[in-house]
Amino acid sequence: MKYIKKIGWGLLIVFVLIQFYRPSKNMAVSDTMESFLVETNPSQELKLILKQACFDCHSNTTVYPWYNNIAPISFWLDAHVKDGKKHLNFSEWGNYTIKKKDHKMEEVVEMVKEGKMPLTEYTWTHKEAVLTPDQKQAILDWANHTRALYQLGPKPE
Ligand code: HEC
Repeated sequence: MKYIKKIGWGLLIVFVLIQFYRPSKNMAVSDTMESFLVETNPSQELKLILKQACFDCHSNTTVYPWYNNIAPISFWLDAHVKDGKKHLNFSEWGNYTIKKKDHKMEEVVEMVKEGKMPLTEYTWTHKEAVLTPDQKQAILDWANHTRALYQLGPKPE
């Protein structure tokens, strides 16, 4: 019993101390996604879907939930955002080569078709990010249409 109490206090102290460590936030001051939006031209409706379901992890501006103020959740979210951005960052679209853009759009089709994106952990707390079949189709059509503009490789279905 004594040990359990000690462990309890130990954990509490660790919990309190890690609150002093905060990963820096992913909130660029002047992030426009101009290049990406002009080039891929999503409809207003689709733009909103992407904003609600993808941009938090795939752009330079994340809208953080309140619980991001609590460690270790903050570290966990930070890792997701960093990892997501490393793979695909719509804010950096203008710096991608055509080949890379085409490939990323191919990946978008794959991920959305297979229901791998947005991540399930994200939709637990972001119900508006759960994609309906129509929304999924809208993303697929848009991504395939964008790929057709790049005119590379085998034509998308
Ligand atoms: C909670 C954060 C998060 C959200 C929201 C999210 N993603 Fe991701 N995404 C990731 C992470 C992390 C990876 C890399 C690891 C992996 O593939 O699971 C990734 C990988 C990807 C990749 C693969 C890129 C590559 O070349 O490997 C694509 C494409 C993608 N996401 C598209 C989307 C789309 C489209 C949406 C919205 C419908 C979305 N993601 C929403 C975190 C997220």
